[in-house]
Amino acid sequence: MRLEVLLALLPALGVHGIRIIQSNDDGWAEQYVRSFHNALMASGHDAVLSAPAENKSGTSSLDTEPSPRNTACQYDSCTANSGPIGRNETSPRLNWVNSFPVTSMRYGIDTIGPQFWNGEAPELAVAGPNVGSNLYLAVHFSGTVGAAVYAAKNEKIPAIAFSGASDGTLAWNTSPEPRRSTVYAELAATLTNAVIASGKPYLPEDVFLNVNFPQVGGQCTQASQFKWVLSRINVGLFSAPDVQQCGGTRLPTETSVVGTNGCYVSVSVGDANDKTTAAAEKQAVVLKKLQSMLSCLP
Ligand SMILES: *[C@@H]1O[C@H](CO)[C@@H](O)[C@H](O)[C@H]1NC(C)=O
Ligand SMILES: *[C@@H]1O[C@H](CO)[C@@H](O)[C@H](O)[C@H]1NC(C)=O
Repeated sequence: MRLEVLLALLPALGVHGIRIIQSNDDGWAEQYVRSFHNALMASGHDAVLSAPAENKSGTSSLDTEPSPRNTACQYDSCTANSGPIGRNETSPRLNWVNSFPVTSMRYGIDTIGPQFWNGEAPELAVAGPNVGSNLYLAVHFSGTVGAAVYAAKNEKIPAIAFSGASDGTLAWNTSPEPRRSTVYAELAATLTNAVIASGKPYLPEDVFLNVNFPQVGGQCTQASQFKWVLSRINVGLFSAPDVQQCGGTRLPTETSVVGTNGCYVSVSVGDANDKTTAAAEKQAVVLKKLQSMLSCLP
């Protein structure tokens, strides 16, 4: 479905604009997060970006007070000596924090976002799309996942982490906007809108979603070609059974989902306390919310 068609359908789906805080770990000036911001705004949401001033990949859950910047931000997106936090003066919803992803998310939730929302907190937190996948063991090191987990666990705000297998860095103003950036943005907005349309509470407490998109290319060049599969983060060898889905009680790992031929997106229900797969009863809540859009692997 084309983005415009999808957006036109949103009111019929019961989606209304909500307050969304965004972050990532690749930096505020990375194009994936900007394309996603544009898609959320086009969906009618009240989105505010608060992300690191530069690439802080792999910093997991580190959190320290932002320090004054001496050098220009990533891709020359801010000037040197511009303080510990800053924003795009012509697009003030776009903010940078000179610290880690978790710190950026924390500032976004506590300080920056409420300036746009009459002092209110965000209703949903999203991180990414990350440049590159965050599967299985990588989940523990990812700053993108760390930011989502911080929101879910420490601030009790439902949170989703998105990552895309197609990598290679892109400055925010790369033109024309490469297809992988717009496809990932459209996919991330589609899942975000589905979670919102499912009603409050958007996710069970202490749960985050870890969503991984396969590469854009080959047979997978339009958002409408991608299919969504409920997955688990870690291998479930000795774990208690998963929720009943696709004729079994063991969900596929996210690694196997994105590795299957045919444009499959993995959606894992994560436990924000330890970044592993959430228990079956929490998976069941998410399954019920997303059932109509989920597929089974061939
Ligand atoms: C960020 O840095 C990591 C290495 O620390 C690298 O793998 C990744 O590609 C970089 N991402 C961007 C968007 O620059
Ligand atoms: C700031 O926003 C303006 C207007 O939207 C845009 O033209 C410019 O590229 C943006 N710069 C950065 C670094 O975000």
